[in-house]
Amino acid sequence: MVKVLFAPLQGYTDSIYRRLHNKYFGGIDKYYAPYLRFEPNKEPKKSVLKELLPENNRGLELVPQLLGKDTDLFLFHINRLESQGYKSVNWNLACPYPMVYKRGFGSGLLQSPELIDHILSQIIPKISIPISIKCRLGFDDENEIHKLIEVFNRYDLKEIIVHARTAKQMYKGKAIPEIFNEVLLQSKNELIYNGDIQTVDDYIRLKEIIGAEPNKIMIGRGLLQNPFLANELNGVFLPKVEKQSILRAFHDEIYFEYSNKLEKSHILRKMQTFWEYFSYNFDNQHKVYKLIKKASTIEKYSNRVDEIYK
Ligand SMILES: Cc1cc2nc3c(=O)[nH]c(=O)nc-3n(C[C@H](O)[C@H](O)[C@H](O)COP(=O)(O)O)c2cc1C
Repeated sequence: MVKVLFAPLQGYTDSIYRRLHNKYFGGIDKYYAPYLRFEPNKEPKKSVLKELLPENNRGLELVPQLLGKDTDLFLFHINRLESQGYKSVNWNLACPYPMVYKRGFGSGLLQSPELIDHILSQIIPKISIPISIKCRLGFDDENEIHKLIEVFNRYDLKEIIVHARTAKQMYKGKAIPEIFNEVLLQSKNELIYNGDIQTVDDYIRLKEIIGAEPNKIMIGRGLLQNPFLANELNGVFLPKVEKQSILRAFHDEIYFEYSNKLEKSHILRKMQTFWEYFSYNFDNQHKVYKLIKKASTIEKYSNRVDEIYK
């Protein structure tokens, strides 16, 4: 049995999505929240802090994620999250966007293993909950991972989740699971694979490459496309008709929740964003996505959803 960790996906896996995913599909060991960014002289976004309040995340195991490098603020946020009851915190060394890496955050730290070492050496002795790390294979060279693992090996870390791409690849090109074997051997801490697992067949191929059944795996977009994927990886399959009716109920409750939360003018855009992934569940995926994207009002959107699920 493989434990599935739901990857953080900013813009998608907020507290509403996580709660409803857990209600309708389950099968997830832990959900990882999109990052909370911290930096000196700048308050973190109130909306992100609110997203992490325990009362907004009941009934599932959530790991908050922090992005930044200021050690005092890092400590402050870890302690604050611990006081809210969180059992571990994830450090983002993976975000590939220029606005992030150019400020030396996220993947911007991958080419500075000595700075990562320094930050960990300042943090770890002073905290009482463990840190896990989410990183990429490197910034622009997948072999950078070896130096990073050398640093991580100096610490007792909860988990190291490796998105098997370089930051320069962003989300394009192929993930490189092949290098994972060497990294597995090198790491003293638990290593978790992430990247491009969208189907059961992808997972079978990954197992062939790794040569073993992983204990845990992190999945993002594959779960947005097929929210049943975690169960299917563990051998639980539902008939198509039943799946479609659960997906419809899931959609309707997401729609209901955002209708209560967002301004009317924003609901349509929000729901359309999800359909990039929801549309994978239909044989005529591209037609379905186009139909939804072209809905110009929320009324037209609702009619089209009815038509699609008919
Ligand atoms: C829209 C989007 C938002 C993301 N937001 C985050 C984030 O907040 N923190 C993070 O560590 N990774 C983030 N990621 C990366 C994913 O967690 C994951 O590592 C990546 O998508 C590869 O896994 P997958 O192929 O299973 O999706 C994001 C990815 C996407 C596509």
